[in-house]
Amino acid sequence: MQTTIKQTTMRAVRLAQPTPASMVTLCDAPIPEVKPGWVLVKVKAFGLNHSEQILRLNEIQADYISKPIIPGIECVGEIADPSDSAFRVGQKVAALMGGMGRSFNGSYAEYALLPTHHVFAVESALDWAEMAAIPESYFTAWGSLFECLALQANDVLLIRGATCALGYAALQIAKAIGCTVVATTHKESKLPLLAGADKALLDNGRLAASLPGVTKALELVGPKTLPDTLCCLEKGGIVCNTGILGGVYTLNGFDPIKDIPNGVYLTGFFSNYPTAETMRTIFRFLDERRLKPAVGAKFAFENIREACQALDSGSVNGKIVVTI
Ligand SMILES: NC(=O)c1ccc[n+]([C@@H]2O[C@H](COP(=O)([O-])OP(=O)(O)OC[C@H]3O[C@@H](n4cnc5c(N)ncnc54)[C@H](OP(=O)(O)O)[C@@H]3O)[C@@H](O)[C@H]2O)c1
Repeated sequence: MQTTIKQTTMRAVRLAQPTPASMVTLCDAPIPEVKPGWVLVKVKAFGLNHSEQILRLNEIQADYISKPIIPGIECVGEIADPSDSAFRVGQKVAALMGGMGRSFNGSYAEYALLPTHHVFAVESALDWAEMAAIPESYFTAWGSLFECLALQANDVLLIRGATCALGYAALQIAKAIGCTVVATTHKESKLPLLAGADKALLDNGRLAASLPGVTKALELVGPKTLPDTLCCLEKGGIVCNTGILGGVYTLNGFDPIKDIPNGVYLTGFFSNYPTAETMRTIFRFLDERRLKPAVGAKFAFENIREACQALDSGSVNGKIVVTI
């Protein structure tokens, strides 16, 4: 069944060059036409991500970014046109990654044309703003914790750089399954935000040798602190590098023989490959345990500039969501 969308244009953000948050504006853009293998989603809300800040300020210049681009790597909404898929009009969905907001237009728009295999039917009692805080942050936390770290209830988990949307999600999931969690921030003023952890620590860049018993570590600061994190683990421990908050993206001069302690394992997680099964499991997990994502701030779509400014300033604690 096809919808009857009467309008032909929509409001969207379009970027063609490095754009500070203060220059972000809404413009009119054509509502995309459906094609086989792609569905049209009426966007109800979307979360903002650190990677969108990187795209807007710098990565936009890269050749692999299709320009002008509508940014936004995730959203929740309703199917407006299912095209040749099994979705039905009005069905509640979440979508993320796979090139969204980079190689094809993303979610900072009233409608998004998205590849069917990156759109997932979801059931949730949460409102749109709360749902919007889930796809990217929780999929990444889930994959890092379970696929990469094989997290178990008896683990002692270090979350390094926990004061970000992904860190709060990981902390919530790990505590919900019974782990002991040590969470760090690089700002003393943010220690109270980590009250949900068993131990909140100020990160001075050198944690090794001061944290006995750590069996798993989720590295969100990234290569800047990864060598030190590897030395925090007990034998048999696993480190998953998922974040790059420290602004260092690669490990130059890394010597795997000397820099990875004997019997410690290093892995990484990339959220580009979500599956329907994992997305269903995450929404069910949150629903069954009555868990709500930490929404730090909500903005109306008209105020997208302010939302981007909040992202760049790092002033919001929790996920920034935009509702349409
Ligand atoms: N591997 C993947 O597929 C994947 C997927 C999603 C996200 N990520 C990565 O995971 C990280 C978190 O993403 P997010 O979207 O959840 O971030 P976010 O909510 O936008 O949070 C960013 C905030 O983290 C804080 N932060 C905490 N520790 C920091 C440190 N050591 N250095 C600098 N800033 C620090 C900063 O605020 P304060 O300075 O005020 O603390 C910053 O404003 C990012 O690096 C992102 O690129 C990776």
